[in-house]
Amino acid sequence: MGFNVRSRHGQTELAPEDRKPFKGRVVWFDGGRPKEDARPTSTRVASPPAFLRSPPSPPPPLQTPTNPPSQSSSLPHLLVFGGNGFVGTRVCQAALAAGLGVVSVSRSGRPRWAAAEAAGGAEGGDASRGPPSSPPSPLSRSPSPSSDPDAWIHDVEWVAADAFDVESWKEALEGAVGVVSTLGAFGSNAFMERICGDANVAVFEAAASAGVPRAAFVSVHDYGLPSFVLPGYFGGKKKAERALFRLFPETGVALRPGFVYGTRKVVLPSSSSSSSPPRTLSVPLGALGAPLDAALSLLPTESLSRSAPSLAGLALVPPVRVEALARAAVAAATDPEVEGGAMSAWQIKERYGG
Ligand SMILES: NC(=O)c1ccc[n+]([C@@H]2O[C@H](COP(=O)([O-])OP(=O)(O)OC[C@H]3O[C@@H](n4cnc5c(N)ncnc54)[C@H](OP(=O)(O)O)[C@@H]3O)[C@@H](O)[C@H]2O)c1
Repeated sequence: MGFNVRSRHGQTELAPEDRKPFKGRVVWFDGGRPKEDARPTSTRVASPPAFLRSPPSPPPPLQTPTNPPSQSSSLPHLLVFGGNGFVGTRVCQAALAAGLGVVSVSRSGRPRWAAAEAAGGAEGGDASRGPPSSPPSPLSRSPSPSSDPDAWIHDVEWVAADAFDVESWKEALEGAVGVVSTLGAFGSNAFMERICGDANVAVFEAAASAGVPRAAFVSVHDYGLPSFVLPGYFGGKKKAERALFRLFPETGVALRPGFVYGTRKVVLPSSSSSSSPPRTLSVPLGALGAPLDAALSLLPTESLSRSAPSLAGLALVPPVRVEALARAAVAAATDPEVEGGAMSAWQIKERYGG
């Protein structure tokens, strides 16, 4: 598949890309091929992290080598499912920061807020600060790449495809050093079981068949809640974890955070009569998560939660900062030093920061 890594800080010189037709709908953030085609024939990408750089090959052993990647198209990258979501966007950013190429698969492709902003809908501001006092300057809608905090979006290849439609994205598995799945949803129990469970199972099965060496799954803390509490959500997560550990017995990592906090960008609904593009808003979930985190850090929450009844245990699981969870996910999906199995909220915080 065409692999679109364009780090501005990179060092490694790659041969020209060998673009093959791709069945999925690739959404190019900056409006399509013409801009991309203007790139120089060689593309600079960031140097991969030490553990990826050191062995000059051989590649990791394939688990079930039904579809070995071709040499020309198998540039190393991390494949992120749900890369346009709250956790997924941070996973993409963490992977880019680690020097990896990134391909994201989700139904809507690039983040909706980025699409809204690119269409001219301004950032409505930070919800903790209230509405902006004056209309944003036109300049703020098209900042230069160097000043744009969202410039990383250009370095991700956004594939718009449904996880269940494996044929439409399976080419993205070629050359993937690992897979991270953040797929999840809330809704009816049947729907949650389908997305939290079955969609992830489909991803792990395809990744294992393609010989992707590692997989990380953003699961959830096991609160030990009664089975009637959100059975679709928790049951789906357990189903996905079972598939992960069966298909990646040594290298599958289930990250189990409780509450995840950070700033979530959302697209505000626009009125049907309005012709202006939708506005976006940054919602600081950290306003709740950070103080709670600080308070809980004073308690031996891990041992208390093991002994506490489930509902009391709910309050004891420390919130995890979304950036730490993202770093954990990238390491879990790429670093051979990270052991397969479950990684608790406490382990995520201890190893990857607050
Ligand atoms: N946020 C928390 O506090 C928290 C706590 C514990 C665990 N988690 C888990 O962390 C994961 C990520 O959470 P989040 O808050 O980042 O959720 P989110 O923002 O809703 O992201 C979910 C992602 O899944 C994608 N998706 C859903 N159905 C899909 C399908 N059929 N095919 C392809 N992509 C699909 C969505 O993109 P499209 O809509 O474009 O398809 C989106 O990118 C979830 O599994 C959640 O259970 C979250």
